[in-house]
Amino acid sequence: SAPALIDRHGRTISYLRISVTDRCDLRCRYCMAEQMSFLPRSALLSLDEIAIIAERFITRGITKIRLTGGEPLVRRDVGDLVRRLGAHVGTGLDELTMTTNGNHLVEHAGDMAAAGIRRINVSLDSRDPGIFRYITRYGDVDRVVAGIMAARSAGLAVKINMVALNGLNHAEIAPMLAWCVEQGFDLSLIETMPLGAIDEDRTDRFLPLTRVFDDLSARFALSRDAHRSGGPARYWRVEGTGTRLGLISPLTANFCDTCNRVRLTTEGILYTCLGHDDQVDLKRALREGGIAGLDAALDSAMATKPARHEFDIAAAAPAVARHMSVTGG
Ligand code: GTP
Ligand code: 5AD
Ligand code: SF4
Repeated sequence: SAPALIDRHGRTISYLRISVTDRCDLRCRYCMAEQMSFLPRSALLSLDEIAIIAERFITRGITKIRLTGGEPLVRRDVGDLVRRLGAHVGTGLDELTMTTNGNHLVEHAGDMAAAGIRRINVSLDSRDPGIFRYITRYGDVDRVVAGIMAARSAGLAVKINMVALNGLNHAEIAPMLAWCVEQGFDLSLIETMPLGAIDEDRTDRFLPLTRVFDDLSARFALSRDAHRSGGPARYWRVEGTGTRLGLISPLTANFCDTCNRVRLTTEGILYTCLGHDDQVDLKRALREGGIAGLDAALDSAMATKPARHEFDIAAAAPAVARHMSVTGG
């Protein structure tokens, strides 16, 4: 069988994140500028090419695939991709998941569940309508919450993603955890990362999760949970409940030594680290060399994956110019 993907630092790559579009119908202030120029549609991988690449990754030992964006549900043919990749769940793939802004879940949750998705992560940075609108610029919190409830009704396990933002949602973090406990959701808190130009100063908004955690552990009975989702979070269990609290702290608690991830963009570029520009052009490798070309490109990606990111929240400009929406988080 085809050799596993092991990078030059000895890390086994088992998690592929696919950005199916860099476009989004929201403009979260920590993620995007108000005026964005998106990738030209002509440069995109076809749905079939995405599936061929993903299937080769499965053959090479990937067990978890996450569809992200941008907003994956704004790509019209995403349902076809979910159905095609969903067929591998249980045979090669342990998990096919999605990260979404929730804006279109009311329409799509049922389809996603039917196609093989069991669990989704939904961004919800605030439950206050005014603050939610401010952070996302265009979002309607009621609509997103309705989408979250539709997902739960469709049988999907839900994890809420909340980027911790100083002066914006700091006071809502404990109430958000209480709400997640009540609703049966998991919650992941995320430190804001310097990726791509935005219209405001990320330093002002940066909230270290070390500070948040002390406050939460004073209010909730939290015990460390050895659970690994295969992602970057460290977990705590809210005792006596089904809720897990995850902390994603790239700035205050680096997790790169256990990184198992690579990222495919909608143009077919494979980025081997969220925080570096190291890349391999899989679209070209596939179009020029077929599966053998793809395999060679994957091997060269393993030989160049950086040891860790070098995020500096205080730098005048982010070291990585592309937005998270291009790389797929
Ligand atoms: P689970 O499967 O639920 O663990 O999901 P996940 O945390 O892997 O995925 P999700 O798309 O919900 O991402 C949550 C946050 O983690 C996003 O802000 C991602 O950008 C961030 N993240 C994921 N992988 C990495 C990584 O390798 N490095 C850094 N710095 N951040 C990451
Ligand atoms: N830093 C941290 N998280 C971000 N996200 C988007 N941009 C950033 C950033 N610059 C979050 C979204 C979503 C997840 C995939 O990444 O809110 O929940
Ligand atoms: Fe869109 Fe997600 Fe970025 Fe918000 S964080 S603008 S929902 S891609």
